[in-house]
Amino acid sequence: MPASRRRFLRRLGGTAALFSGPLGAIALDDEQVRLLRPEHRHAAADRIRVAGIGMGLMGFGDMQAALKVPGIEIAGVCDLYDGHFEKARELWGADLYCTRDYRELLERKDIDAVIIATPDHWHDHISIAAMRKGKHVYCEKPMVQHWEEGHAVIEEQKRSGKVYTVGSQGVSSVALAEAKKIIQSGAIGELNLIEAVNDRYGALGAWQYSIPLDASPKTLDWDRFLGDAPSRPYDPVRFFRWRNYQDYGTGVAGDLFVHLISAVHHALDTPGPNRIFSSGSLSLWKDGRDVPDVLTAIMDYPATQSHGAFQMQLRVNFADGSGGSNRTRFYGSEGMIEWGGDRFTLRRQKLPKAPGIGGWDTWNVFSSAQQKAYQEWYNAKYSEEDRRRNQPEETRYAAPQGYDARVDHFANFFEAIRGGRPVVEDATFGLRAAGPAVACNLSYFKRKVINWDPVGMRVK
Ligand SMILES: NC(=O)c1ccc[n+]([C@@H]2O[C@H](COP(=O)([O-])OP(=O)(O)OC[C@H]3O[C@@H](n4cnc5c(N)ncnc54)[C@H](O)[C@@H]3O)[C@@H](O)[C@H]2O)c1
Repeated sequence: MPASRRRFLRRLGGTAALFSGPLGAIALDDEQVRLLRPEHRHAAADRIRVAGIGMGLMGFGDMQAALKVPGIEIAGVCDLYDGHFEKARELWGADLYCTRDYRELLERKDIDAVIIATPDHWHDHISIAAMRKGKHVYCEKPMVQHWEEGHAVIEEQKRSGKVYTVGSQGVSSVALAEAKKIIQSGAIGELNLIEAVNDRYGALGAWQYSIPLDASPKTLDWDRFLGDAPSRPYDPVRFFRWRNYQDYGTGVAGDLFVHLISAVHHALDTPGPNRIFSSGSLSLWKDGRDVPDVLTAIMDYPATQSHGAFQMQLRVNFADGSGGSNRTRFYGSEGMIEWGGDRFTLRRQKLPKAPGIGGWDTWNVFSSAQQKAYQEWYNAKYSEEDRRRNQPEETRYAAPQGYDARVDHFANFFEAIRGGRPVVEDATFGLRAAGPAVACNLSYFKRKVINWDPVGMRVK
């Protein structure tokens, strides 16, 4: 048994780890939970002033998470719908600087970093403009709407030297960090398959978000929203439910597969797949959207120095009548880890050395004499120990209640700005995750296998 694996197995019995011991008992006491809070884990060094660009669902969530990190201040917000300015002023004061033009924010010298949480078709433009103006950038996933746009973002990050991170917060989750250690210790044997599922059931889960009653061409900036998308008349459904349209979003692949792919890339230190195939349908939500609501994908990951070859299967089903689920399973030759959000379960069952006798009903076609002779031969060949069936073991891990990976993701971003550890999810990582995700759309619409170069980050 390798030394790293022995160390891991020893550690499972202890309670010093961040997570629970066997079978779900949370081993953290109140003091340990207190020390996990951001104010204890992340020192308030230099003050960092942050502005939000795109203040919708995620813009507000991101800003609130960022402000939990010590030393972070809000410097202003940019959005295209006035109702979101009202909300921002309710939260952060009537004097908050609000603008519909992100370029105005970028001109301000008192802003160090921006959080970009606009629809996907704006990500590359605003990321590049912000770094050119000397801002550090936290850009929501997927980093780009089309893979070709990613190279300019990488180049600008390198040229400007600014800290750039993509917002797949799962990458900073303490649960994923622990799962990564376990996988890399060899505890599940040789990894051979990953199955990642994000299924939902309900109109809101299927992106039929509420549209504010005061939405009008006066209260929102339709032309600016369109950006480089094809021109068309004002349509509040497209503005507030942009995910449902290829012109602004990236479908379920760019929206949800990308989280799953990012987590896998981080856990395995892999640059990505080299073959991608995707298929699906518009099954239930026929509301004018032009993206599928059921999508599956198969990706082939070639062997690298950190892992053998494996396959990844992904699935999003917005019409999952069983109620939905969100899990990623890492299958290995001796076990499986099922990770989801801030918890995971490890299941292990070692194969016995002896193969067993017969093979379903084939034993019954051995004559009685043959059975007797074989049984004697088998018992002589394999010891009792070799013949014993190992019982399955299950260990559950959960982060403490109230843990929020987004706060850690922001803390990592701000630490990098302050000169500490570099971010994990930089622009290269971002394209290595977004590229295969959006290649699923290419595969689905073109009905063909996409060959992807995971190192060069290009469709071949
Ligand atoms: N990390 C996550 O878990 C997570 C979760 C949800 C969304 N997201 C990502 O966050 C981004 C935003 O998604 P959302 O659900 O918040 O959408 P949303 O529609 O709720 O918010 C987007 C906001 O961007 C504004 N906007 C559009 N174009 C703009 C522009 N050019 N300049 C300034 N503001 C502009 C809109 O007015 C809107 O308020 C997407 O890329 C999405 O994939 C990430």
